[in-house]
Amino acid sequence: MSDYQAMQAELTGAIDAATDLDALEALRVAALGKAGSITGLLKTLGGLTPEERQVVGPQIHSLREGVTAALAARKAALEGAALEAKLANERLDMTLPADASPRGSVHPVSQVMDELAEIFADMGFAVATGPEIEDDWHNFTALNIPETHPARAMHDTFYFPEVGEGAAQRMLLRTHTSPVQIRTMMEKAPPIRIIAPGRVYRSDSDATHTPMFHQVEGLVIDRGIHMGHLKYTLETFLKAYFETDDIVLRLRPSYFPFTEPSAEVDVGYKQEKGRRIVGGNGDDDGHAWMELLGSGMVNRRVIANCGLDPDEWQGFAFGVGVDRLAMLKYGMDDLRAFFDGDLRWLAHYGFGALSVPTLSGGISA
Ligand code: DAH
Repeated sequence: MSDYQAMQAELTGAIDAATDLDALEALRVAALGKAGSITGLLKTLGGLTPEERQVVGPQIHSLREGVTAALAARKAALEGAALEAKLANERLDMTLPADASPRGSVHPVSQVMDELAEIFADMGFAVATGPEIEDDWHNFTALNIPETHPARAMHDTFYFPEVGEGAAQRMLLRTHTSPVQIRTMMEKAPPIRIIAPGRVYRSDSDATHTPMFHQVEGLVIDRGIHMGHLKYTLETFLKAYFETDDIVLRLRPSYFPFTEPSAEVDVGYKQEKGRRIVGGNGDDDGHAWMELLGSGMVNRRVIANCGLDPDEWQGFAFGVGVDRLAMLKYGMDDLRAFFDGDLRWLAHYGFGALSVPTLSGGISA
């Protein structure tokens, strides 16, 4: 055995016997530190003849590599053992009773989305989802929103930076839930009945606008669908949601690129103690109309963009703000408070985890 091999055996033995990380570090410094034994040997290489160096060099380097590897292996073993010890030490007994009862509550937005899913499930609608990071085509083009449409202006839409030249298309934060219409029509064969609740984003912020808010989209595609189906569906939904049969709707002609014809839907309400109570005919004394949602018959071009034949398939769609629905039903007056995460607000307006909305048990039980 050469001197170097003997030295390596000795050092490795000491390393393997080190019982903690401090001892190991001391060994490392003694061998590989500035004044370490192996470092000293490496320094002697400079004073050797090239021939000597050719013989001794590889031996010293192999010594250094062997010791370095032994140090690393021992370090990993000691660290693993330390972690095991820590885990054993910090183990929590999950079967012990909690020392404080849980304080969480279900956010009104989540609760309302659950209410919507329940109401529409009863009418045969499934819940569909789509990505919040959307591409330009699904968010705009496929929905018949041309390049020049104001909705595309930078002040409304959060765009992602363009990634390189020839990138397929610009990505953005979806500005509405309508792209889920497109994704659903492209993925599933009609007949289609879905709602799509979710987050949407617009660069807009004041008392009634937050950069992130929630919408629910509705889409029905089938044969022979007409505006009567739309009105009936909305009436049924709003009666169940506001828990009153006294819902009167007013459909006003409007414009959305993705529907033709389009209708803005107003609902009658009256003002009571500074709050809007939904119900009644907006033309009656003490009542007024409030704009609630956008809707219409799905534009033939949108149906065709999704690869369906618009002569065979028709449908209606609608979109409504979920936060707005929650405010109207549960009486909050500032949208911004929805997203402040204030525990007092959440305790006041939040719902217990067990108050699950069901049609049989009462939607807002
Ligand atoms: N996407 C529209 C918006 O965000 C809302 C909307 C209007 C959705 C009409 C629809 C619709 O499905 O038919 O302002």
